[in-house]
Parts: sequence; C-alpha cells; structure tokens
Amino acid sequence: MTTAFDVASSRAQFPALAITDEGRPRVYFDNPAGTQVPQQVIGRTVECLTARNANLGGYFRTTVAAGEVVDLAHQACADFYNAASAAEIVFGQNMTTLTLHMSRCLGKRFRKGDEIVLSRMDHDANVAPWLLLAEDLGLVVRWMDFDTGTYEFPEDALTRVLGERTVLLAMGMASNCTGTVHDVKRFTAQAKAAGALVYLDAVQHAPHYAIDVQDLGADFVVSSAYKWFGPHQGILWGREDLLKETFGYKVRPAGEEPPHKFETGTLSHEGIAGTLGAIEYIEQFGTGGTRAKRIASAWDAMAGHEHRITQRLIEGLRGFRGLTIRGITSANAMHRRVPTVSFTLEGHHPQQMAQDFARDNIFVWSGHNYAIEPVTRMGLMDKGGVLRVGLAHYNTEAEVDALLSCLTRQIRNG
Ligand SMILES: Cc1ncc(COP(=O)(O)O)c(C=O)c1O
Repeated sequence: MTTAFDVASSRAQFPALAITDEGRPRVYFDNPAGTQVPQQVIGRTVECLTARNANLGGYFRTTVAAGEVVDLAHQACADFYNAASAAEIVFGQNMTTLTLHMSRCLGKRFRKGDEIVLSRMDHDANVAPWLLLAEDLGLVVRWMDFDTGTYEFPEDALTRVLGERTVLLAMGMASNCTGTVHDVKRFTAQAKAAGALVYLDAVQHAPHYAIDVQDLGADFVVSSAYKWFGPHQGILWGREDLLKETFGYKVRPAGEEPPHKFETGTLSHEGIAGTLGAIEYIEQFGTGGTRAKRIASAWDAMAGHEHRITQRLIEGLRGFRGLTIRGITSANAMHRRVPTVSFTLEGHHPQQMAQDFARDNIFVWSGHNYAIEPVTRMGLMDKGGVLRVGLAHYNTEAEVDALLSCLTRQIRNG
C-alpha cells in the first residue's frame, strides 16, 4: 500500500532547506549533482565521529562500536537494494572510483578481442572506465544508441550490438541528462542470455525509485548516497558468487572474502554511518513488515509527489517559445523518467541562464554535466550543453513556479 507523502514533514527534517540569504530562500534544483541531507544523516555522522572513532577489528570499545555501525550500514544498504546478503555490499569513495576499481578487477576475466557494450546515454563514470579497460586489453567497444526524438532506446538497441564475444553490458538505469528511465530489466535479460556480465549505474535512479537487484537479474549495481540524501559515499552491490570468484586488487593483509577484498584501505566510517542515516530517513515514509518493503513503498509515495511537480515544471516550460525539453514530456509517461528536466532555449546560453537563476537563489546546473555521450549525440556539445533542473521529493510547486517566473524575467530582459 502506498502512503501519502507529506512534503512539509520531509522539509522540516533538512536544516539546509530552512537557510535563507538576505531573506530569500534557497531553491535546490541541483539535486542530480547532489542532494541536501536530513538531520538523521547529520546525527549519525556526528555520533560516529564522536563515539565510534577508531579503526576496525580491535577489542576496545570504540573499534567495536565502529564495526557495529559499519555492519548495520552494510545490512541497511542490502535492504536498500533488496540484496540477498550484506556481504554483497561494497563501500567505496564514490560511484566513479568504485567503477574504475571494479572494471580493473573484472578485466582479469576478459581477453583481447572480447566485446563490451556501452551506452550513448550514460554518464562518463560508466563509460570512461570501460573505454580505458578496452584500451588496456584490446577489447572491442560496441555502442547502444538512443533515439534523439524520443530520448529512449529502441527495442532492438542492444540486440543489434550483442555478439558471441560480448562479455559485458555497462549501462545506466536513468540518465542524468535526459532523465529517461531505461528498461534495464529487459536489456539485462538479453545480455545475460548472451552470456555477458551486466554492470548497472543506478546513481540517478536510486534517488527516485526502488531498486530490487534480485528482480533485475544484473551482476553489479552501483550508486552514491550523496545523490539520495546521504553523505559522499559510494555503494556497490555485486552478486556474492561473482564477488567471490572475481579477482580483487588489494593489499596482502586485507581479507580475502567479499566485501572486504574490494573495500580497499580504511573506509569512511562517518560516511557509512551517514548512509545508514539516509536509509533510516527514507524508510520512515513507507510501510511494510521489512525494511526493504518500507523503502520500496517510501519511494512509491515520493514518486507520486515528484511526478506532480515534474509535470507542472514541464507544462510551464512548454509555454516558452523556442524552448526544447531534452527528454520525455508526455504527462502519462512520468514513470518513464526521473524528475531531471534538461532544456535548451533559443538565443539563451545555458551558462548564462544558470547564472541568472543563481542570482534569484535558484540552484541549477548547466553544460554537459559529465553526460558527454548524450550531449554530443544531441549535437549540443559546442552549444553549451543544456540547462538542467533536477527536482527531488522535498521540492514544492511554489519552487517550480519561482523558477518559471525567473525564466519569464530572463526572457523579458533579453
Ligand atoms: C548517472 C551518474 N553516474 C555516475 C555519476 C558519478 O557519481 P560519483 O560522483 O559518485 O562518482 C554521476 C554523478 O553525477 C551520475 O549522475
């Protein structure tokens, strides 16, 4: 059952949302680049640094306490991804670093001439690490291309490029540029049927919709807690048998078993504790007998609100002559996108617009936002990329209206 989502009670938990500058509120529409954090995250982080500040594996009180919070967070992240076991959760610095690392480890399985499939819709963090690996090993790179009219992958986007020697599909679950949510379950099934490993970038999906790795059928899913109301912390899920058999680049004294063989060096215990806090925050909005169920139902509740404000934003933007939304706009397709809305406006440079919004204390990003492939594919790389408005569950109708009014003023003032 989906519970009604109470935006006011969510906002009250974020100290950053109450900050004003010269009496003006801050409008956080920079969420795809990083979200604000609730008190629960701050509390967990501070408590870890105050009472649990020690390295892991000893006998005294603080080392035991640090180990406890790290274990709790492994389990919470397993619930967040609906993973079968906490041993499948690998903590790392961020998604990019985890992917650079895991791509090296997986590279031990690949041979010269093997093929990997990458996507033209992806953030560079799930492209460049594999391109570098391909260069090192002599792998052949094949590209899954999207339709620049619909901002979606055609039905046969993957089957067109899958071959007998395909060893990997690396793709995103949702785009940080167009906002499209991809049918990754279908593409995963196709790749697995061809015998390939599947590595999914969930960074932009995770702040908006539930992830069920047991249902998806992929091999790796990775995201970053700072995109979903937590601290700067990367979290990778990998199938336990695969983590066990995959070579881990590590120092000799580090454990041989997953997840430890991939968690190189001393972890950010405070980041991990804060991540636990973010999951506790999300969970409160859901119902159900298990934490995984509460998390899934919380995302459903938040999505209802997100879809309403996204539709309001899209309808408002469509009223501006010369403005092109670079993503899905249909009112009945809000579930096929995240609330990240990128657009271009004839005669207005994205960077200039971002500066004008900043003057009104409205925080947005402009440019390619590391989505090199899709921005190039849409022919926007030498035009300043896009202006990106990224909503989250704590944003409101009033904030959307403030952005639309600011845009009206920008156009009036030329
Ligand atoms: C879709 C996507 N993937 C990967 C990343 C990289 O994440 P991180 O900063 O955790 O390395 C981002 C960051 O914006 C992203 O949007």
